[in-house]
Amino acid sequence: MPDTRLTETAELFESRKQDHIRIALDPRTQAQGLSGLDRVRLTHEALPDTNFSEISISKNIFDLQLKAPLFISSMTAGNEKAALINSRLAEAAEARGWAMGVGSQRKELSRDASNEWKEIRKKSPKAVLLGNLGIAQVISSTTDQVSKLVDNLEATALFIHLNSLQEVLQKEGTPNFKGGLQAIEKIVRALKVPVIVKEVGCGISKSTVERLNDVGVFAVDVSGLGGTHWGRIEGLRSEPGDLYYEASQTFKDWGLSTVESLLLAKESPLKCQIWASGGVRSGLDAAKLLALNAEMVGVAKPLLEAALTGDKALQAVMEKFEFELRVSLFCTGLTNIEEFKQKRVWSWI
Ligand code: FNR
Repeated sequence: MPDTRLTETAELFESRKQDHIRIALDPRTQAQGLSGLDRVRLTHEALPDTNFSEISISKNIFDLQLKAPLFISSMTAGNEKAALINSRLAEAAEARGWAMGVGSQRKELSRDASNEWKEIRKKSPKAVLLGNLGIAQVISSTTDQVSKLVDNLEATALFIHLNSLQEVLQKEGTPNFKGGLQAIEKIVRALKVPVIVKEVGCGISKSTVERLNDVGVFAVDVSGLGGTHWGRIEGLRSEPGDLYYEASQTFKDWGLSTVESLLLAKESPLKCQIWASGGVRSGLDAAKLLALNAEMVGVAKPLLEAALTGDKALQAVMEKFEFELRVSLFCTGLTNIEEFKQKRVWSWI
């Protein structure tokens, strides 16, 4: 079938990024109830041998000490609204000791973006920032181009995102992932920083986690079904009757759930870490994924919403996540997050 996709222009790029931010806040884009998290119950401990004030949720990663095993999942970069959103997110990430993924740095491949990040670095010099590029761009870029994105941001690591459903349901998408694994391997070998491969809300199968592990990625974030759904978002950029709108209705629940992806990945003996995101809407959700042995847990949409409201709203949401995670530890009888690995504290409902 001939591909009648639109050709990318600067205007189209800008309007797509604005569409994404606006539409992501629409409740219809949320695959609510499909993450599998509602089926997991943490085991209540009526007599914890702990003082709540001694509970620690700090996390060692990348030879750094984060205050929480949490990260702001990649969202935006390189467009009109991104500077304000990213500066708020980076300040909050630095203040609260979370890591932060920036959104796709695709636009920087064709123009100098050092100013965008210089401003953010000036305000948040110690934020742990993680770069981001889509697999379609990784395939078509040189390793020097990708290294430059990491340098511009002073990134601690690079996320490469896999988004097949989004690219194929996007009017101006690039659904060509041929040679993707080899391109990832090349980047893993060339970069000075760790590479983390993530989905964007459709999950990653066990066999693909194994393939990624074999080419040496540092971590895989399964980013599964249950929260923001990119098939739904791209569909809402078209009208009913339009091919992409109608197909997105068909694929609105497509994906492997966050819990399913995580559990399948954990069945394999792996060198790489497994991170989880997709539909994480509370500190209790985060605790469940840590109990299922995710190393780090990511949150996107709730933090975008809060960042658009303001700094205080954003910090309040992040504080709530941390508090709920501490409560989960206290009420399962644990004192730190590493103990999730030693003791099973969950069951199926
Ligand atoms: C995203 N996400 C995303 N991921 C990525 O790797 N690069 C990107 O540029 C973007 N852009 C983006 C924009 C917006 C507005 C949202 C809400 C999300 C996907 C994100 O990192 C995450 O994987 C999914 O959104 C699932 O998490 P939530 O939203 O269910 O918490």
